[in-house]
Amino acid sequence: MSSAWIAGLRSVALNMPDLAQAESFYTQVWNLDVAERRDGAVYLRGSGSDAYLLALHQGGPVPQIRHVTLRAHSADALAAVADAAVAAGATVIAPILPLADDPAGGHGLTFKDPHGRVFQVVHGDLQRAEAAELQDRPLRLTHVVLNSHAVDDTQAFLARALGFTLADRTVAIAFMNCNHDHHTLAVGISDNDALNHIAFLMPDFESVMRGGGRMKDAGFAIQWGPGRHGPGNNLFNYFIDPFGVVIEYTAEVEQVDAHYQPRGPEDWKWPPGRVDQWGISPPPGPGLKEAQRRVLFAPD
Ligand SMILES: [Fe+2]
Repeated sequence: MSSAWIAGLRSVALNMPDLAQAESFYTQVWNLDVAERRDGAVYLRGSGSDAYLLALHQGGPVPQIRHVTLRAHSADALAAVADAAVAAGATVIAPILPLADDPAGGHGLTFKDPHGRVFQVVHGDLQRAEAAELQDRPLRLTHVVLNSHAVDDTQAFLARALGFTLADRTVAIAFMNCNHDHHTLAVGISDNDALNHIAFLMPDFESVMRGGGRMKDAGFAIQWGPGRHGPGNNLFNYFIDPFGVVIEYTAEVEQVDAHYQPRGPEDWKWPPGRVDQWGISPPPGPGLKEAQRRVLFAPD
């Protein structure tokens, strides 16, 4: 269940229609902290060791995803990904180079898969000593779900280019991992190739719940949750940010090892009316489902 090359998920870069409003929301409501501001971009961190979790760039009228950043185990692993990605059908956008303009630095490779999903793989990026856990501040990202109109192809690409392994597959999602987290990248079975959602790992159960209350107080109703998923066994509250990006507070993600037995859609079935383990929250409504197919990858 571990990738020979990829240690984990580092960050996501987005284009936002209003950078000041985005910074305000993601710091004052979502509870991240500013790591750095640069011309036309703000970098936001959690309380874990990653230099930042979100890179927000001033964009056009609709939000776009620029890339998903993963961290390689070593310089050799990064070089191996460069070869493997091309062999798997990727187009290189930027070869392995020092990331001089990135506040986290290190070396990075950027490529896109045959459907236009853009991945950046880094090594040697800045990592901090973990801060004292701040109440209700996300620790790190734990997964990103990307839609695919051709899930089998995308699953194969993630396996070949990045060494990811299938953890579980339901009628809606192929869950894939690279480390002990049950899933780090997941593929949403869809008719498009949009960003489905970004999940932020909270310290515990209470912080997921209090985060739901804080978002509600700020006018952002819980779109789905509270609940506990089947695959991954994680707690969840889902929201739509001010621009339409779907974000999740989660905690208690199942930790897996090489003995984990993947299961398929026939194994992951719910009784009528249920779509999670608890059955407290109604299923996701049309507003959330629509938002989960609206944020597309920015063209090169
Ligand atoms: Fe999720």
